[in-house]
Amino acid sequence: MRKPYIAGNWKMNLTPTQGAALVKELAAALQGKDVKVMVAPSFVSIPAVLQAAKGSNIIVAAQNVSDKANGAYTGEVSCEQLLDLGIRDVIIGHSERRSYYGEDDEWINKKVLFALSQGMNIVLCIGETLQERQSGKLEEVLSRQVKVALTGVSAADMKRITLAYEPVWAIGTGVTATADDADSAHAFVRGLVESLYGKEVAENLIIQYGGSVKPSNAKELLGRENIDGALVGGASLTADKFLPIVESALE
Ligand code: 13P
Repeated sequence: MRKPYIAGNWKMNLTPTQGAALVKELAAALQGKDVKVMVAPSFVSIPAVLQAAKGSNIIVAAQNVSDKANGAYTGEVSCEQLLDLGIRDVIIGHSERRSYYGEDDEWINKKVLFALSQGMNIVLCIGETLQERQSGKLEEVLSRQVKVALTGVSAADMKRITLAYEPVWAIGTGVTATADDADSAHAFVRGLVESLYGKEVAENLIIQYGGSVKPSNAKELLGRENIDGALVGGASLTADKFLPIVESALE
């Protein structure tokens, strides 16, 4: 049985003060609920959000991390720095990192391997553009992203990987993949992971869906066999939208 995993990627939104207030509200509402919930604030907000999340079961994660241990890499943040704060979870390979900051599959693989070597848990994002989908390349793109990003990752380390399928055309657009489309992409990815790591790893793998998830569509998406959680952007920025999404994972 895969436990639902609902994550909020705040992207470059919310100040430290606003983030701390939001997490306090979430923590109070989620007390005692059997669901895995994560929020990923901007780096500067992490200390305030961690402090506000203390005593709750909300995981605080980073949105990105360097593939280097430390050194002369202006503007970067290392695993060691995150771990020192108490952060053990990180999102890697988000489509915004890929498209705006030039992260390719090989670079993402380096980040994955380094973060795993430092003991971190990873939400690894994959997903096709509209053009790739329309030209029939969905499976080819997802195969390449998964295979390259996971090169050198052992079956044992797969316990620390969550995949997030986020079709690029559904991110921040208000357009959601239909539950059927999302479920079939997830089933394809699970099959791919099975071919790489075997049945047990594939069956235990959490695959989140991301792209315009909101209270009105969360239940239908999360009800599908292969959709084990959500990676939520815009609707994770207020408790009145995020909490109903978390609740729909419990139904
Ligand atoms: P939206 O929910 O705003 O579409 O963003 C999805 C996303 O990119 C989460 O990582």
